[in-house]
Amino acid sequence: MTPVTEPTLALKLTDRINRIEPSATLAVVNEAERLRQQGIDVVDFGAGEPHFATPQHIKEAAIAAIQGNFSKYTAVGGTAELRDAIVHRHAVDFDSDYRREEAIACVGGKHAIFNAIQVLVDHGDEVILPVPYWVSFKDIVRYAGGECVLLESDESQGFRVTARMIDRLITPRTRLIILNSPCNPSGAVMSPEGMTEVVRLAHERGIWVMSDECYVYLNYTDKRFSVGSLRDFRERMIIIGSLSKTYAMTGWRLGYALAPAPVTTAMQKLQSQSTSNPTSIVQKAAVAALKGPQQCVTDMRAEYIRLRDHVVNGLRSIPDVKCTLPQGAFYAYPNISAFLGRSGINSPSDLAGRLLREAHVATVPGEGFGTRDHIRVSYATSIAELDRGLERLRRFLSSL
Ligand SMILES: Cc1ncc(COP(=O)(O)O)c(C=O)c1O
Repeated sequence: MTPVTEPTLALKLTDRINRIEPSATLAVVNEAERLRQQGIDVVDFGAGEPHFATPQHIKEAAIAAIQGNFSKYTAVGGTAELRDAIVHRHAVDFDSDYRREEAIACVGGKHAIFNAIQVLVDHGDEVILPVPYWVSFKDIVRYAGGECVLLESDESQGFRVTARMIDRLITPRTRLIILNSPCNPSGAVMSPEGMTEVVRLAHERGIWVMSDECYVYLNYTDKRFSVGSLRDFRERMIIIGSLSKTYAMTGWRLGYALAPAPVTTAMQKLQSQSTSNPTSIVQKAAVAALKGPQQCVTDMRAEYIRLRDHVVNGLRSIPDVKCTLPQGAFYAYPNISAFLGRSGINSPSDLAGRLLREAHVATVPGEGFGTRDHIRVSYATSIAELDRGLERLRRFLSSL
């Protein structure tokens, strides 16, 4: 009998797909899942999502949409009802005055970011990106053919980024500045004054600002702020929003952008040739979320503050771990540089890998966010789970 051989494909993929990497955070989720399937009890500080269930009234709106057969295609950029709800919520909370045609609903905030960057960033364009950055910005810019110019932030000042720091990086090729406040992974929050200065600088230089405000409701300072309130500077501004974190709806996939109509129209064109509309049923649920009672948002925020204080106190009590106080989102970003060079650990990836395999705690190494001294700890979990993970972390780090 002739042996059966696997057919070998000379697989030639495009340059643009070869320019990007899979999301670093998803890699951790997959590895933790693999261990769990082997029956190992993993404490998960890796996931970037709320531990809360989606509020009941939002779930009920989705069920009603199914029962009411709201199951056809909708307008590509979302129903008029949803776009009005997005604009309404933003106007009430941030004193903005966007119109329906300046809002587009997408399949998550990431999709809104992807579409916005594809329509604004061209080959050879530069995009200023503060470090640490959320994992996907860099790859999405690269996919569009652009180049990220990284801006190191000041960790001793809570990972601060200022207009003056950005100004130094502007060149004739600068097309876009990305802001993300509250920031994933550092939890840093820019002051309203600091954000205003950046927006003013960009306006003066004719550069676009994309403000990723997916965590805007998880700002623990008393100054919740969206650049959308700066009505005079809207000409070159894109706001990205998401229901994922605000309403504990990560799996539902609903995000949006607020931007000048030519941008939202171009995003719709792209969306019309890719995903089409966000899921019709989810759109109904999103309207309920945005127009319904907001107490759930207030309650979740209060609980995150409690969890943040608990985890930061716990991390700071581990010898040689330093941790700035995050002012928003649900991540702590401890500095673990003191452990590099110990027991064969030379990078955050080494540390996170050993931590997962040997102590069964999932975290995300800082390299994916552009830093070499940190790991990201998601504290969107219960106090009991935080305690279990912190104890394992303490024991593991003490053994190095
Ligand atoms: C900073 C930031 N922006 C955008 C997103 C995208 O979220 P989603 O696509 O679920 O709306 C995330 C998700 O983790 C994020 O952390």
